Amino acid sequence: MKITVIIGSPHGMKGNTGMLLEEVMAGLEPGTETDLLDLSRLQVRPCVGCDLCHRNGICHLQDDYESIKALLLASDGFILASPNYIFSVPAQLKALFDRSGGLLHCLALEGKYGAVVETSGGGEDDEVIRYVVRFINAAGAQSVGAIGSPMAGERSFPKQEILFEKARKLGGELCRCIREREHFPDQAGFRGSFKARMKRLVEHRKDDWRYEYRYWQEHH
Ligand SMILES: Cc1cc2nc3c(=O)[nH]c(=O)nc-3n(C[C@H](O)[C@H](O)[C@H](O)COP(=O)(O)O)c2cc1C
Repeated sequence: MKITVIIGSPHGMKGNTGMLLEEVMAGLEPGTETDLLDLSRLQVRPCVGCDLCHRNGICHLQDDYESIKALLLASDGFILASPNYIFSVPAQLKALFDRSGGLLHCLALEGKYGAVVETSGGGEDDEVIRYVVRFINAAGAQSVGAIGSPMAGERSFPKQEILFEKARKLGGELCRCIREREHFPDQAGFRGSFKARMKRLVEHRKDDWRYEYRYWQEHH
């Protein structure tokens, strides 16, 4: 079982989000193969909106995006870890989301499972988690759950041991869902309507977005 782990904090694994993510990773089943991608050490430039990825399936910006995409596509599941930056994700992770427009048009992560890890200074955890889960569903994948928490102080969480126990359970749950091909009916509505919308969009642009039109014919 292969899991791609992406952390979007500029503090990498040394920050609060990394501390909570470590617990989630500790809960993964023994033998799980992981690739940990720390966006603070990689380069993902902002999308320039050129649409070339929709035509060719490849982004022409020269940075780490295509190799991150390849790891995601080769994985059974993934973890997205992010701090709350002004009710959303930091620019580093937002850049990755924006560059993933092609994955969303094709729902290219269908069949995969995602988990979310989030930390904040003081709150709005659910708002950030909802946003990241929407990204997971829009890419075609199912979310197995999320863990988020405000901080209680320097590098500590309120009720830390209880939180860490939940974090380890989330790691185990991600592996179980992958193994048992779990289905989450509560996510089917959004995933279904988003998929229908993307199908219409790609059909409408079929003469221009040739890669994505071909992808839909071959995969859906
Ligand atoms: C630019 C910036 C924006 C932030 N925005 C928020 C916010 O809107 N709400 C909040 O509760 N915390 C906010 N925080 C606090 C971080 O979410 C919090 O410290 C988080 O645990 C940092 O995780 P990290 O150490 O993994 O980077 C912000 C921090 C920074 C640096």
